[in-house]
Amino acid sequence: MMPRVVAPETLDGLAEEDPAALRSRLDLQRIHRLMGTRGIVARALLGQADCRPAGAPLRLLELGAGDGSLMLGVARELKNDLPAVELTLLDRQNLVSRATLAGYAEVGWSAVPQVVDVFDWASGDEPPRRWDCIIANLFLHHFEAVPLASLLAAIASRSQRFFACEPRRARLALAASHLIGVTGANAVTRHDAVLSVRAGFRGWEISALWPAQPARWAVAEYPAGLFSHCFQAERISRGEIAAGP
Ligand SMILES: C[S@@+](CC[C@H](N)C(=O)[O-])C[C@H]1O[C@@H](n2cnc3c(N)ncnc32)[C@H](O)[C@@H]1O
Repeated sequence: MMPRVVAPETLDGLAEEDPAALRSRLDLQRIHRLMGTRGIVARALLGQADCRPAGAPLRLLELGAGDGSLMLGVARELKNDLPAVELTLLDRQNLVSRATLAGYAEVGWSAVPQVVDVFDWASGDEPPRRWDCIIANLFLHHFEAVPLASLLAAIASRSQRFFACEPRRARLALAASHLIGVTGANAVTRHDAVLSVRAGFRGWEISALWPAQPARWAVAEYPAGLFSHCFQAERISRGEIAAGP
């Protein structure tokens, strides 16, 4: 058994323009390729279009979006499969470049960065069910169970669907995280990769923290690829939308 251990990651303590942080974010793009994250997220997002009336844009929010490059890859993969998309990239650091925003525009997605701490977002005012889908990639594992449960409650009240792709807390993933240096990853990435796996998820751990009534949500949690662990939740009946989460 590997108990879940959450520890502060080095990258989170570095300034946006710190050279080690810039390099580590590039490492992260390589790690996503190894993990197959883009395909995992793209598959999960397929089918989202059916929750919007014809012609209405799909409203997506990514929490802890980083530099937005992962979702840009997803947008490129899905450009012919989704209707117009309005994407908000939320992160407490200002990391999304103009080039990345231009990349979204090229595939017809409108993307807007929102620089805010996720817990300020969670405690702020926002209409219920504002988002068709909220997404989180390599993000939930930053948080201990109690704050994570409060974050999931905010997500549930504000979205129709939620999808998260996180590190899988398993021996193979842990072994791979110790070997990440062979990809040329810097010291920040090598350190954080191991912490991320130790703080990752397995089994039904995210479902256990999901707050909404089981009768109103279809919830699934499953391993994906070699190193990822996914959680998804979808409101079952849109007829109950006015009745509360
Ligand atoms: C491991 S990176 C993942 C970035 C992106 N989702 C990806 O998969 O490439 C985690 C991101 O979460 C952000 N983050 C950490 N704690 C946060 C918080 N409390 N509120 C908002 N963003 C946060 C960090 O700034 C960082 O960009």
